[in-house]
Amino acid sequence: MDKYCIQTYGCQMNVHESEKIAGVLQARGMTACADVADADVIVLNTCCVRETAETKIYGHLGRIKSAKKRDAVLIVCGCMTQRSEVAQSLVKRCPFVDIVLGTFNQSLIGDYLDRFIHTGVKTVDIWRSEKDGELRDTPPARTSGINAWVNIMYGCNNFCTYCIVPYVRGRERCRPIDDIISDVDGLISSGYKQITLLGQNVNSYKWQDKKFVDLLKMLESDKKYRLKFMTSHPKDISIELADLFARSNNLAHSLHLPVQSGSDRILREMNRHYTRDEYFRKIDAFRAAVPDIGLSSDIMVGFPTETEDDFMQTLDLVDRVKYNNLFMFIYSRRSGTPADKMPQLDYKTKQERIDRLIKRQFEISKAIAGDSVGKTCEVLVAEKTGSKCYGKAQNDAAVTFDNETATVGDFVQVKITSAVNANLKGEAI
Ligand code: SAH
Ligand code: SF4
Ligand code: F3S
Repeated sequence: MDKYCIQTYGCQMNVHESEKIAGVLQARGMTACADVADADVIVLNTCCVRETAETKIYGHLGRIKSAKKRDAVLIVCGCMTQRSEVAQSLVKRCPFVDIVLGTFNQSLIGDYLDRFIHTGVKTVDIWRSEKDGELRDTPPARTSGINAWVNIMYGCNNFCTYCIVPYVRGRERCRPIDDIISDVDGLISSGYKQITLLGQNVNSYKWQDKKFVDLLKMLESDKKYRLKFMTSHPKDISIELADLFARSNNLAHSLHLPVQSGSDRILREMNRHYTRDEYFRKIDAFRAAVPDIGLSSDIMVGFPTETEDDFMQTLDLVDRVKYNNLFMFIYSRRSGTPADKMPQLDYKTKQERIDRLIKRQFEISKAIAGDSVGKTCEVLVAEKTGSKCYGKAQNDAAVTFDNETATVGDFVQVKITSAVNANLKGEAI
């Protein structure tokens, strides 16, 4: 048992949880390998936010089956298997899987592995929530270069009507503020140049009398580093945060604020608790406080009952906000959620709407990239091959430039010289 291979689906939360699983396996003396064929332990950390994610995972399990060593231990965990009916059908469909866990007991993966090695008995163990006293935050083996992920909270209380996340991640639990601050201090001291705080709805972070804005203030530092966070909810994000962005030494000038739809009627059906006008007011406040802020969002098309007029409202919102980056999804039915029981749209309409949205956003991203030619920005170098540096600007735009001396982790002033679609090229000054 000396090599492990972890494959991760889903969001940053899962990426970071895989780092924690890697931490447990490394503490047992194991090392990572990239190819499942070389691994003694294979972990598949899954997602179920859309049906496409689940379909991909089943396809992938088939490929693992034919590639893996005969006696390799195969573990499936994460959001998809947290739904116990899915976990049960997975072991029926894929009898070559040895251990199935959910989201609440992943930190005990080492104990499950020992039990399997000693008894050879396959395990399916899905908890309904964290058991008292068993919540262990295991130290991660970080794999994300200059960036370090730091959880500030787990779970979600919002129950947007399309979303499976609250069912597979449980209710909101915030980490103690002192633990977060000492994690971040330690990471900066050990050389990380970017910290990304993670939570399904970071704006509702609360610890005793401290709120999210207080946490951000306490993370201000004289040491040079970039502070990011995700994800924010438009109903909870405070205008006070806009002022903090303007004053902060550390906060990156970028904000991901998922709107989902531009139609008030659809937003109500989605249980989002804000209107398009309220959303515009918040965007305006952030733009007024931080004129160079980079904005991104998630938008879904084809939510049940969405009409052509509702969709036009979404296109109009996209035209008005002009996001630097937009993640666009076709609504996917998730059993057990309220939206699954609403009247559904046909596939063709959904496909046609996403095509129109992608086309519109492509033009906007291209225009924004074109406008940045001639401007100067601060790039944090994340990768370097030969003399070619790649990194992100303050507003999250991806920039490449040629430079012999710059190294990974440097902050470099770069003048943008050209733009191809949304990709910027520049030169160090
Ligand atoms: N907590 C975060 C992330 C949620 S999942 C948030 O609230 O923003 C990330 C994105 O996936 C969501 O913003 C939404 O746009 C999309 N999504 C969630 N459920 C979906 C579904 N059933 N079908 C399609 N997209 C979905
Ligand atoms: Fe899902 Fe809504 Fe919670 Fe985000 S806020 S995880 S979309 S229920
Ligand atoms: Fe993330 Fe997918 Fe779970 S988006 S929270 S890994 S369902």
